[in-house]
Amino acid sequence: MTKQYKAAIVGCGSIGQAHMQGYERLDNVDVVAVADPLEAARNMYMNEYGIPQGYATVQEMLDKAEPDIVSVCVWHLLHDTVTAEVAKGPSVKGIICEKPMAIGMGRADAMVDVCEANGVKLAISHQRRFTPGWEKARELVEDGAIGIPLRADLRVKEGLANWGTHSIDGARYILGDPVAEWVMGAVERRTNKFERDTAIEDSCMGLIHFGGSLQFFIQSDLWDRNCDAGKFFIRGTEGMLHVTETVLKLFNAETGGWKSVDLGLQEGDQAIGGNTNAAQTRELIEWIETGKESRGSGRIARDTVEVMMAMYESARHNKVIRLPMDEKEYPLELMINEGKLPLEDTERYDIRGFLDRSEIDETRYQQLRDDGIPHHQAMSIVHSEMGTEGIRPAPELASLKDSQTDES
Ligand SMILES: NC(=O)c1ccc[n+]([C@@H]2O[C@H](COP(=O)([O-])OP(=O)(O)OC[C@H]3O[C@@H](n4cnc5c(N)ncnc54)[C@H](O)[C@@H]3O)[C@@H](O)[C@H]2O)c1
Repeated sequence: MTKQYKAAIVGCGSIGQAHMQGYERLDNVDVVAVADPLEAARNMYMNEYGIPQGYATVQEMLDKAEPDIVSVCVWHLLHDTVTAEVAKGPSVKGIICEKPMAIGMGRADAMVDVCEANGVKLAISHQRRFTPGWEKARELVEDGAIGIPLRADLRVKEGLANWGTHSIDGARYILGDPVAEWVMGAVERRTNKFERDTAIEDSCMGLIHFGGSLQFFIQSDLWDRNCDAGKFFIRGTEGMLHVTETVLKLFNAETGGWKSVDLGLQEGDQAIGGNTNAAQTRELIEWIETGKESRGSGRIARDTVEVMMAMYESARHNKVIRLPMDEKEYPLELMINEGKLPLEDTERYDIRGFLDRSEIDETRYQQLRDDGIPHHQAMSIVHSEMGTEGIRPAPELASLKDSQTDES
């Protein structure tokens, strides 16, 4: 008989809704509880999704709801401590923690260790690994459709840790999860920029070298054109791939130019939520039941964190960083504290600060939701009407729009 799993969501904000969408598609999972210190956030989930229990603290949720699976959907700097607390819950068998896994290698490795010590399977929500475009691209690469992979081009914005984690992790997935050997990075931070409370760069770039001839080049917040967390251009000795979550094009000696690959797309195939989050949960359950590690395990995801941290560490020391790297803290923050990134604009701002629900006008928020405005947008409108300080979008990118050319 199929086992019925009890799930709980910690953090009732934006991304928890994608986890909820995934759970709702699975007959063998019931979401029994949520935890969030904000009553309005808890009530929103309980009312919208019919979740029976809501708690202000993680510990109370663990004690009373006794979940098997827990989604950790809080901001980055809380991922390690919340994951550790959840992993110690006697009923917990699996955790899906949001990306970026952790800010700093010490935190990332501690998450893997605490879960292993407590017999808990830890998956990191790089959920795009379960999209048809990425899955098929990995299959084509494995089958030799582009020969020996040489190069992946990654272009993201809104912070390296925010989008870059998906991008680096995704290119690694498509190329068979190689582990980097060395990283060279450059970083600019002239404004006092944060993303979900984490200090981030204005822009950065990195050259990442894997074994053999494989390299990735990633640019973040440098060029607006075709920036996407889920989009890659991959070149091999015998061909090339354009990859997104739902579109795949192949060029090799047999395709007669660029050829679209049929992905057999179904309703709900999307980058975030829907079938993607459902598949991620299904694979976690398989891991719990059979011991077959999920493609999104913490063990694999920590290597993606290491690439990002090594980019900062390289800029910090002006040298190539060979992996595994020694630094356990967050090298960007260390650089800031060491005075290596002097600010031209000292006012602190957060490009995702509009998600902070702790002091919003809840009546106005509810009006907007009643008018059909989605959560993300409603939060942005409420903060802008309240004139909350310290919230601004990222500055214009360095790129000159009229010098850009179209790419497929
Ligand atoms: N995988 C993806 O594609 C994807 C997309 C968006 C966001 N994310 C990640 O999800 C995480 C959450 O982002 P978000 O946009 O949902 O943020 P959010 O601000 O919308 O939601 C976070 C929620 O956590 C709650 N919270 C804060 N401290 C808590 C605690 N100690 N215990 C329980 N709840 C607590 C807050 O009250 C808030 O309701 C981030 O790390 C972000 O990077 C991932």
